Amino acid sequence: MGKMKIGLVGCGNIASDISRALTEKNIPATVVAVTDIDRSQAEALLNRYKLNASILDLEALAEAADFIVECAVGSVVPDVVHASIVHGKDCLIMSLGGLLADPQLIDRARLAGITLRLPSGAVCGLDGIRAAMQGGLDEVTLTTRKPPAGLKGAPYLVENNISVDGLTEALVVFEGFAREAVRAFPANVNVAAALSLAGIGPDKTRVRLIADPAATVNSHEIHAVGAFGEMTALMRNEPSPRNPKSSYMASLSACAEVAAAASAFVSGT
Ligand SMILES: NC(=O)c1ccc[n+]([C@@H]2O[C@H](COP(=O)([O-])OP(=O)(O)OC[C@H]3O[C@@H](n4cnc5c(N)ncnc54)[C@H](O)[C@@H]3O)[C@@H](O)[C@H]2O)c1
Repeated sequence: MGKMKIGLVGCGNIASDISRALTEKNIPATVVAVTDIDRSQAEALLNRYKLNASILDLEALAEAADFIVECAVGSVVPDVVHASIVHGKDCLIMSLGGLLADPQLIDRARLAGITLRLPSGAVCGLDGIRAAMQGGLDEVTLTTRKPPAGLKGAPYLVENNISVDGLTEALVVFEGFAREAVRAFPANVNVAAALSLAGIGPDKTRVRLIADPAATVNSHEIHAVGAFGEMTALMRNEPSPRNPKSSYMASLSACAEVAAAASAFVSGT
């Protein structure tokens, strides 16, 4: 069997990091099609990585590819899952907030026999959360700690007149459930969504957000209690080398999912 043919939906930073990994690493996959609402982004990606791929609309991309990678925006996720189902292609969804908004998409894909790969992204410990769900989870809390500058302009801070300027010690700026947190802090949407989807859902998963002047990187700590016992998982994220606004681990996680899909595809499992 030949290389797995990938269709990229969205040609921004994550698409770049996946394209780079495919050129630098021995992953049995190749990009054959791309789509983007901004055609110049698609053209730039093809030029930058010398991809022998076509710029297509979503339907034609789903037809041409063996595996679809959504790395665009949450609002496109329903269309991508629909195209995956119609064309019988597995896919990776990076914009997990889009799935949180419409969780029935996961069941629809499962019923259609489509594998939706959901990355762990910028957190770790989701394997433990998934396993713990089998025995019952009582409590899951995400504590995200960021340098204050990384939180400036968040809708919740603006609406509630909370200033993070000149902090001399850590300040808890939000405590609530994931469903509210993703609206209040859109920049945190994928981490809260990944944890919610792996565990007890957005209405029970607790989120604490801390502006910490002593923090040099963004960190995410998961604490969970259940029949299994208790777990704590801490991730301290360095920014991506090519995109300071994004965690490096998010791209690495996307590349790991693509590599896993490619080796499963090529070995036919
Ligand atoms: N799961 C995670 O842990 C994780 C981590 C980081 C980013 N993400 C998500 O992955 C997605 C991509 O991230 P990125 O850093 O590459 O973003 P980016 O802004 O660098 O690139 C997104 C690209 O998608 C294009 N796009 C926007 N709307 C589109 C649409 N409707 N159809 C087709 N293309 C469209 C944009 O023009 C842009 O080229 C975002 O939704 C982001 O929130 C997820």
